[in-house]
Amino acid sequence: MADEQTARERIAFLRGLRAVREFRPNPVPQKVIDDVLEVARWTGSAVNRQPWEFVVIRDRDTLRALAAADGFVGHMADAPLGIILVMAGDHAAQESFDEGRLSERIMLAAAAHGVGAGIGWFKPAGAETVKSILGIPRHRTVRTAIALGYADEGARGARPKRGQARKPLAELVHAERYASADLPVA
Ligand SMILES: Cc1cc2nc3c(=O)[nH]c(=O)nc-3n(C[C@H](O)[C@H](O)[C@H](O)COP(=O)(O)O)c2cc1C
Repeated sequence: MADEQTARERIAFLRGLRAVREFRPNPVPQKVIDDVLEVARWTGSAVNRQPWEFVVIRDRDTLRALAAADGFVGHMADAPLGIILVMAGDHAAQESFDEGRLSERIMLAAAAHGVGAGIGWFKPAGAETVKSILGIPRHRTVRTAIALGYADEGARGARPKRGQARKPLAELVHAERYASADLPVA
């Protein structure tokens, strides 16, 4: 069992994970990339299918081209590193769950090294653009891009705090039953 201090530090690390979309230009060291990919590789998946591959991109022109693809990935234009998740495209529902687990673990592994990360999604048309830029077969699913780099805290502080708040637990947690037993199900 972890001692109280270690547990507190781990919980603070997990709770503190936030999206980073503003980056300093410093490159992400290869050792960090290796750790991120190693943690990603060990992500659990439905039936242990491991339905993923990764395209790791450092080239500035490619990052800019991906950022311009139809979707919500504009922050990749100024990131020193991008990872495109390439999903097998065989089991849509399971793979979308697996993709979420994978994304979060990539972010956490990066954060363990003090490297920030921001998820972005391509729209279907943007995903086709990405496939053609990167040479990904059409039958694969491409949806998620993760931009990585050291956070530019000055620029982060300046952006609107849209995602700052979280709902209080009192709104989210139900003890034993969702509704009291004497209420009809809506
Ligand atoms: C499934 C999923 C898709 C997301 N897509 C995008 C996106 O397309 N562009 C983007 O900037 N952020 C995207 N995000 C990041 C969320 O906007 C972010 O997690 C949320 O605003 C909370 O921000 P915070 O962690 O900084 O509080 C996505 C996150 C998830 C889980």
